[in-house]
Amino acid sequence: MTALAKESSSALAEEAPSKRRLLLASDRPDRSDELADILQAVGEVDTVATLDIPERPSRDLSGIIVDINLRSPESVQRVRNKLRHQAYGSMPRLFVLADALHHGTMQAWALGATDTISRPLDRDAILRRIRAAFPDTGAYDASERGKAVNCGVEAAHAVLVKMLDKFPAGTPLSFDDVVAVENHVIKAIKHGSLRQWLTTVACHHVGTYRHCLFATGYAVAFAQHLGMRDDDQRRLTRAALLHDVGKAFIPLEILDKTGKLTDAEMQEIRQHPRRGYEALADQGGFPPEMLDVVLHHHELLDGSGYPNHLKANQISDIVRLTTVVDIYTALIETRSYRAPFTHLRAFSMMEAMGGKLDQPLLQAFRPVAMGSF
Ligand SMILES: [Fe+2]
Ligand SMILES: [Fe+2]
Repeated sequence: MTALAKESSSALAEEAPSKRRLLLASDRPDRSDELADILQAVGEVDTVATLDIPERPSRDLSGIIVDINLRSPESVQRVRNKLRHQAYGSMPRLFVLADALHHGTMQAWALGATDTISRPLDRDAILRRIRAAFPDTGAYDASERGKAVNCGVEAAHAVLVKMLDKFPAGTPLSFDDVVAVENHVIKAIKHGSLRQWLTTVACHHVGTYRHCLFATGYAVAFAQHLGMRDDDQRRLTRAALLHDVGKAFIPLEILDKTGKLTDAEMQEIRQHPRRGYEALADQGGFPPEMLDVVLHHHELLDGSGYPNHLKANQISDIVRLTTVVDIYTALIETRSYRAPFTHLRAFSMMEAMGGKLDQPLLQAFRPVAMGSF
């Protein structure tokens, strides 16, 4: 990630005091002192021995950080038992790995980790992860978070109406239309949550609208998880909103067809990157990188994608990010011709795609995907 640079640590230092409540569960509280010190910068920290993890979490708890010996079956079993209460199930869980070789990763995911960090502890990286994953319960109460999400989904939906319904009927779509909504979308994911975003979308939207809204939620959450600078978050938001603009030019009876598509129908659907690219290029005013995303989001690193069979070094960072989010989103969605795949199955299917996808990027996406259900 060169162009999509990480947020500077100075921005972290300027963060306003937070009211996050964090539970740090440790089987060696003395060894967790350094971590507790770091966490104090982003919230109030209660350090408890694993035996003392409460049966049910307090209502204002933002998330739990587990710092245990993941190679000890007793420690793992104790934490598994303690976190059984369903209220823990909807809460971010960050696990500390013993080293950067990621020993214990499998145990952490099996215990429901939504993210991991490793020793030696990197203060700035940890604070970025906490800020991205754990809601700041004091700054935004539940109703404000809900409002932020509704407002973001409505704004994104409004631009999709312009893009998918009005644009093919001849009403111009401008880049400013897309830029105008990005603030609402970024705020929705930052102050609400990806899970709330997906739930809201699933209640109100179907088909291509649902797909574009899901993909946008995942893209923005991914950008925030990676600690991207504000302007890079905006670029990815726009890319996700626009990526399937070409579907506006494909007949709905093909897009929403129940049952298997014929070869001719499949060919027609595979025209959507080029149709979208041509429509935006004819319209004018869209930056080259947006045209790049629209035309190339179905390219794969080994050259087996479409429409241009690009290979790895010809595929830009922003396209790779959009592709990972797009494929994951498509797999977990209900399609008219198949049931959705589970999140775990979808992720492992993408791992099995091997060199077709940017696998390190996919692994970076794992906490976002696993934290979304
Ligand atoms: Fe697409
Ligand atoms: Fe898509």
